[in-house]
Amino acid sequence: MKKLLLIALFLNLSVLAFSQSISTAQKVDELIKQMTIEEKVGQLTQYSGKWDATGPISIKHNTQKEIISGQIGSMLNVLGSTYTRQYQELAMQSRLKIPLLFAQDVIHGFKTTFPIPLAEAASWDLKAMERSARIAATEAAASGTHWTFAPMVDISRDPRWGRVMEGAGEDTYLGSKIAYARVKGFQGNKIGDLDAVLACAKHFAAYGAAIGGRDYNSVDMSERLLWETYLPPFKATVDAGVSTFMNSFNDLNGIPATGNSYLQRDILKGKWGFSGFIVSDWGSIREMVAHGFVKNSKEAAFAAIMAGSDMDMESSAYIRYLAQLVEEKRVPIDIIDEAVRRVLTLKFELGLFDDPFRFSHPEREKKTLNNPEHAAFAREMAAKSIVLLKNENQLLPLSKKTKTIAVIGPMAKLKRANHGFWAINLKNIDSTYIVSQWEGLQNKIGENTNLLYARGCDIDSQNREDFAEAVETAKKADVVIVTIGERWNMSGEAKSRSNIHLPGVQEELLQALSATGKPIVVLINAGRPLVFNWTTDNIPAILYTWWLGSEAGNAIADVLFGDVNPSAKLPMSFPRSEGQIPIYYNHYSTGRPAWNDSSTNYVTAYIDSKNSPKFPFGFGLSYTNYTYSDLSLSKPQMNNSETIEVSFTLTNSGKTTGEEIVQLYLRDKFGSLVRPVKELKDFKKVLLNPGESQKISFTIDNEMLKFYHSNLDFKSETGDFDIMIGASSADIRLKESFELVN
Ligand code: NOJ
Repeated sequence: MKKLLLIALFLNLSVLAFSQSISTAQKVDELIKQMTIEEKVGQLTQYSGKWDATGPISIKHNTQKEIISGQIGSMLNVLGSTYTRQYQELAMQSRLKIPLLFAQDVIHGFKTTFPIPLAEAASWDLKAMERSARIAATEAAASGTHWTFAPMVDISRDPRWGRVMEGAGEDTYLGSKIAYARVKGFQGNKIGDLDAVLACAKHFAAYGAAIGGRDYNSVDMSERLLWETYLPPFKATVDAGVSTFMNSFNDLNGIPATGNSYLQRDILKGKWGFSGFIVSDWGSIREMVAHGFVKNSKEAAFAAIMAGSDMDMESSAYIRYLAQLVEEKRVPIDIIDEAVRRVLTLKFELGLFDDPFRFSHPEREKKTLNNPEHAAFAREMAAKSIVLLKNENQLLPLSKKTKTIAVIGPMAKLKRANHGFWAINLKNIDSTYIVSQWEGLQNKIGENTNLLYARGCDIDSQNREDFAEAVETAKKADVVIVTIGERWNMSGEAKSRSNIHLPGVQEELLQALSATGKPIVVLINAGRPLVFNWTTDNIPAILYTWWLGSEAGNAIADVLFGDVNPSAKLPMSFPRSEGQIPIYYNHYSTGRPAWNDSSTNYVTAYIDSKNSPKFPFGFGLSYTNYTYSDLSLSKPQMNNSETIEVSFTLTNSGKTTGEEIVQLYLRDKFGSLVRPVKELKDFKKVLLNPGESQKISFTIDNEMLKFYHSNLDFKSETGDFDIMIGASSADIRLKESFELVN
């Protein structure tokens, strides 16, 4: 008997071992063989769950039917373990029981909201950004989400474009490093772990170069600019192992990205060997009709699938026409199978075929969403993202002994403002978790400090009625904190602005308060670089506080009172006026360069404005000072298989411990194509105690010197290069040159 049992056990184990040894590829192929064309197209179809303020408006009858008949492969906007479970149960009633894939825009946190991505980018802290994505993934995955539509890695040089809040700013090098870190953060150790979600690099491609900064607008650019500036962050996500891509709404040089075979098949799936799948953006397949690129939805489905778009988000074009197009022999079945294979592979990797409900566990969800470590890190991340723009006479940090502080402005008590545009879970999860700026200050001050409050004005109305009360409040205080900026939905998708000045009468309020003669600290809360020249020229202390998430209030108080020394640096140039846009530090050299901001005559300049931005890329102050000295190069020449070590000494010459972001820029002085005046090539964030010095080194290698030539060859050219070590792109402290030789 025992022997029989042992044999049975052995057989069972070997069956198990055998089934485990079947590769995912084989399992996918086996499944595809069993699928009808309708079921295949179902896997390529994604719909949105319908939500109101508290949850789904019940699953629509049609959606139920479609899931059960295998016509839907993925849903977005289905939130929480309970609802994802309900939908998944329907999928389990389908013939082949192929699990649904749940997607969500987890852009800057899930329950714990983090600073908006542009703000986090200001930290230049890759480990921290990876961690914030990690926490967001952990929370999302515990709530039944399998896939986030992030990171957005679109470079943008146009602050009118509302979606700059969602990216990493204007620089390709910094943007690529951040893109890599965020993918690693979302995807964790491996897809299939219960705390990892699929990441999605979006929007492929060049969406951030929309003409006029108007969302969804056309993009027209040279191949050189595309490859040199806009594509590298996408390539970085592929290098990081990103699972999915989303294409974009815009057309690129006349071809909508969704129907763009050059982008999707040649570059992404071809040259870069991307093995995941591409989802369209919301309705972007159907929108090719409005583009005038195809005459109807059927042709749109044809153009999209042939160009390599694997999944249709919300157009219904695939589900309506792909089977027909296969039947008519216009779309080869292999094309469909290839797309389905990409989708199913990831479903297998997530472990959904073993347990379709494995991410939808209320217990785990509850525990994960209430983890105090997440809040603690959100506070740290928020403080790391705050940029000190001005600090005349060391007004900041404020003394904790200050007797009376007036807190004035429409942002002081607003909660929603800090969450930022994509904090969509507020509707469904827990909108109460947010520390307002007022609360953060209350948490910070001691018994002997008195906080006064006045709202002063709205964010964007013209009403000045409350100015007088605000002025009276300010008069009673020793120091005035004024908190102003953009409402949460003034930057974000479809939130382009032609006027990016501080909205409404907020700057006027500041003028009225300034007339009291009281020392003023301004907090500017926004999703993009704004224009606020009067403020900059007249107010002694300015912190750019973006939209910082759940812990905004505490983090701002940490910085205001010096418990955290600000270290962030701007990831985008801040213009003096909208007329300077697009404005970016790494512009090409011209034949008539303006040597300084006063040269205007017959040089590349304006007659009515300086060329320089109000605040340059890479700029940010600290409560301490840093000195840069003793630049040395290991040698003055290198060939393309050698490297040069660049080193210098960084000293904290002030009285406070701080972190400095040191930036390495290079300039290729002569090239067969005109080169940028400088390009960021490396950076380091260095922590120094007062009086401490550290030797910092960068290695220059041939990769850093390469650029795209007209035939898209990526190679360096011999000649002279400038090395610039700076505290910002406009504050170069040390300079040297070297030569690249044969
Ligand atoms: C449209 C946006 O462009 C995209 O970024 C987002 O992921 C989808 N909507 C889904 O919400």
